[in-house]
Amino acid sequence: MQYMYNPTEKWFRARFTPAIMLGDNRSAVTACERHITLSRKAACEGAVLLKNNGILPLKKGAKIAVFGNAQIDYVKGGGGSGDVFSPYVRNIYEGLKLKEDKVDVFDTLSFFYMNNVAQAYKNGEKNGRLAEPKVPAELMRAAAEFTDTAVITICRHSGEGYDKSADSCYFELEAGEKELAADVLANFAHVIVLLNTGAVIDTSWIANEEKIEAALMLWQGGMEGGLAAADMLVGDDAPCGKLADTFAASLCDYPSTAGFHESEDYVKYTEDIFVGYRYFETLPGKKASVVYPFGYGLTYTTFKISDIFVSASDKRIFVGADVTNTGKRAGKEVVQVYYSAPKGKISKEKIALAAFAKTPLIEPGKKATVTMYFDINDMASYDDVGDVKKSAYVLESGEYKIFVGNSVRDNVCAYKYKVGNTVIAKKCRSYCAPKNLEKRLMADGSLRDAPARKTAQKSFAPTYHSEYKPREEIIELYDVAEGSATLDDFISQMSDEELMVLLTGKKSTGVCNCGTIGGFNDKYRIQPIATADGPAGLRLHRNRGVRTTAFPVATAIACSWNTALAEEIGAAAAMECKENNLQIWLAPALNIHRNPLCGRNFEYYSEDPVVSGKMAAAMVRGIQAQRVVATAKHLAANNKETNRLDSDSVVSERALREIYLKGFEICVKESAPKLVMTSYNLINGVRASECGELIMGILRGEWGYEGAVTTDWSNHAEHYKEVKAGNDVRMPCREGLLKEPYEAGLLTRDEMAACAKRLLEMILWVE
Ligand code: BGC
Repeated sequence: MQYMYNPTEKWFRARFTPAIMLGDNRSAVTACERHITLSRKAACEGAVLLKNNGILPLKKGAKIAVFGNAQIDYVKGGGGSGDVFSPYVRNIYEGLKLKEDKVDVFDTLSFFYMNNVAQAYKNGEKNGRLAEPKVPAELMRAAAEFTDTAVITICRHSGEGYDKSADSCYFELEAGEKELAADVLANFAHVIVLLNTGAVIDTSWIANEEKIEAALMLWQGGMEGGLAAADMLVGDDAPCGKLADTFAASLCDYPSTAGFHESEDYVKYTEDIFVGYRYFETLPGKKASVVYPFGYGLTYTTFKISDIFVSASDKRIFVGADVTNTGKRAGKEVVQVYYSAPKGKISKEKIALAAFAKTPLIEPGKKATVTMYFDINDMASYDDVGDVKKSAYVLESGEYKIFVGNSVRDNVCAYKYKVGNTVIAKKCRSYCAPKNLEKRLMADGSLRDAPARKTAQKSFAPTYHSEYKPREEIIELYDVAEGSATLDDFISQMSDEELMVLLTGKKSTGVCNCGTIGGFNDKYRIQPIATADGPAGLRLHRNRGVRTTAFPVATAIACSWNTALAEEIGAAAAMECKENNLQIWLAPALNIHRNPLCGRNFEYYSEDPVVSGKMAAAMVRGIQAQRVVATAKHLAANNKETNRLDSDSVVSERALREIYLKGFEICVKESAPKLVMTSYNLINGVRASECGELIMGILRGEWGYEGAVTTDWSNHAEHYKEVKAGNDVRMPCREGLLKEPYEAGLLTRDEMAACAKRLLEMILWVE
């Protein structure tokens, strides 16, 4: 761990609380070797080998010329609250130099890029946003004399608070990159491409160019991403990720691109449930736009999936398969299970992911067996118009085909599950319906009129009653923790004004820089518990002095399809939180990759809610096993950064439930995060944090969530409306907003007490 001491700074030490080290013999776990090694391992596990004719891994002693700023200007992760201040970041060139016994790099060329990047930084340019320089002809000649094998590196940066514009050259190569690719292809017989981005970019130029013999999507691989890249290039490790997003040839191929920047005030989710592969695999003629499909990825060996067995109980479908390594190197495979629902009255996607499992490392010639299951009701569609039964999940009659394979395209139908008469799988209530969606996409490509909501928002009676009973002898929260008093008695001694104070965040303490929850430490001993950002590692402000492990971004973790790995990362980051006296980690983030333009995609997992939900659930398990609070964020439909505090996501109830809420539902039901963060945006005209239908109706009512709910930081909502909606705490720190509405009769003690109870339960849960 590296501390940035500035002993001359006034009260430097007094500002921080000393950490009690959690490692063996009182060593630090924060940015310890074990966590950094985990980060490096995860970067390989999530990297996706898009193409390989056998050139990778490189033969021992291979000579390579590495092109592109990205070898020096490596981007470890995205910007904003998801950025992590790690002790160092190792770039690709440095990684390769640590493998000098295996690969010979043409240093002169790399020095050229080193100088170029240093100069650009001096001119104020920023990591991941530099223009490619023209390689002088003489240098190009010298490189070609040194070797016939070139590596092109390309990087991208994006961050919180802004989106990419359609012409900003995030998705497409910029002019300098195009020229570089052309020059390299003209001068070298063998070309390898390394992509260091946080989101989907154009890969058609790679797929279409025969001379590009291998391509590796590194994503943004954290602080050891450069070394992980070198590990994979020389074969010390193998990429074994699969895409968690569809790579289409052009930005316009994604149905949500057309309206993405239509307005700063709203986004119309006209494509409805047809997001990602659900669109490309279903809509007539759209398959052809896909360059690399969802679930796809190669590795350094080959596998055969065989002996597939599928069986059904009355509630579940069970799937198992044998995976044999038919190649020459050890490797891991991901077995993916998809289903296809019958055509019926409800327009459906052709295929959807139901379950997946990653194998352990399989040696050549050996095999592993994987098993998984999913609920039959997971295949139901949500009927929000009444085609079959309004506001219900419906399993229409017919054959549900179960496919097993290793991508959305490579699979076989292994089972047919028959539903005789249409089944109403679950009856719900209509919540969060749109008023002005107008049109929604159907499976055949037509647009159907979307019904407009006519009813007012539903209100929810407080779920808790607490009479004010002042006491002479105060009960401390510690007494409740010890079991000598009840939480109900504890709450009843608090005045209405005190409850109001509890429902807002408090100032940061120690190294915390996002605020605390709790307060009244003097009177009631309600310990303020501290929050810290994520999700690619524990984020502490630069000036807090502590450096933490930067893990690969969430998209990379998702591409590992390895839930055990996500759990391990969650546990490691949570230990770093704990060591630094932080009790709440503001991770995982699981919004859907609706469109490649969203600036914050790197922080989220996938275009698919099952991958997102399962990965988030695993992360939560790891975090909370350390008794650190996990925060599933941002509920929901937070798929655009422009004007994110006031933008209205206009979306059908069905798309909400099947796509945008589904991952949260999985996460909540599988691993019960202690905290959920509502998003800034409005959902169909109502701010997420003020939306009782979302928080009380769906999250708590339908899913049975018992934890607490926080706002996102400094949103534009009205605090009293949030309390009424069951959003328990307003962050980071803004007292005094409840008094007036309370005195005006707009808010009741019970409504405040219900929120207070959930917050106190969370505080009682932490160590
Ligand atoms: C982000 C959250 C983050 C919070 C605290 C907000 O701007 O949207 O994801 O946890 O800030 O830093």
